[in-house]
Amino acid sequence: MGAIKCIGVLTSGGDAPGMNAAIRAVTRAAIYNGLRVKGIYRGYRGLLTDEIKEFKSQNVSNIIQQGGTILKTARCQEFTTPEGRRVAYENMRKEEIDALIIIGGDGSLTGARIFAQEYDVPCIGLPGTIDNDLFGTDSTIGYDTALNTILDAVDKIRDTATSHERLFFVEVMGRDAGFLALNGAIAAGAEAAIIPEYDTKVDQLEEFIKNGFRKSKNSSIVLVAESEITGGAMHYAERVKKEFPEYDVRVTILGHLQRGGRPTAYDRILASRLGAAAIAALMDGQRNVMIGVDHDEVVYVPFSKAIKNDKPLKEDLIHVLRELSI
Ligand code: F6P
Repeated sequence: MGAIKCIGVLTSGGDAPGMNAAIRAVTRAAIYNGLRVKGIYRGYRGLLTDEIKEFKSQNVSNIIQQGGTILKTARCQEFTTPEGRRVAYENMRKEEIDALIIIGGDGSLTGARIFAQEYDVPCIGLPGTIDNDLFGTDSTIGYDTALNTILDAVDKIRDTATSHERLFFVEVMGRDAGFLALNGAIAAGAEAAIIPEYDTKVDQLEEFIKNGFRKSKNSSIVLVAESEITGGAMHYAERVKKEFPEYDVRVTILGHLQRGGRPTAYDRILASRLGAAAIAALMDGQRNVMIGVDHDEVVYVPFSKAIKNDKPLKEDLIHVLRELSI
């Protein structure tokens, strides 16, 4: 592989607020540094179907404030096959794309890792997911916005929960990671969070009820992380109805509204910083790493580490929630 002259950028997997800010940063930083940029539509699928367009600086004007992704996104089955990746590679060559920047989560970076191993293509990943479940970065692009969306929703649910003296189970996203549930619960002043990382031998519902639910309160809110391990909010509501029929229980599943909306300042700055760092990394000869931030410093995390390692939840946050919800 010779010098990099043209880079391709794509967004893949679940969308996340701030992806547009990242596309903008990648595009502008590349052009600033004398590189050409091509936007690849619909994730890896666009590489297979050749939905690729040259981007100039104006193509990314007025998008920093928009949620979603102007490049669209998809989860592409064909790219998981060697035949699919060959077609993708051939289209890259045809389009004269020398390197790829992939903005996405775990699955997207796994695809990039395999592709980079099979072909001599420099790939750089940007962590774009509301789940915050990528190892090696303090935060992923979109997580802060989703957290604030959850906060806004739970504040509203609290009004009605208090008026009716009800117990609410609010299910939040996270795909088997409890960051949104735990930090959402702390920020919203919820009574508890049921998360997959917490000791699965402990019955989190029993614990919550025993720990004095309603001793001093007339309503309660519990955030539940969606996951097969927790079983989700409905599961707990059904149990309470059976085991503690005296409680008036309701469920709210926040769903995909957590993925939309204008990115927060934090996410815009993070995306801008990581996007610019991705171009600097490519020009510096870095390959096959995810760019992250660790203690407010830009870091390069090998794909293998970012994907394989489970990102730990801060144990002290579990205690903070417990202590402050009495
Ligand atoms: O990974 C992001 C995420 O929003 C997860 O939190 C959630 O489990 C999943 O995507 C939902 O995916 P889909 O958009 O395919 O329903």
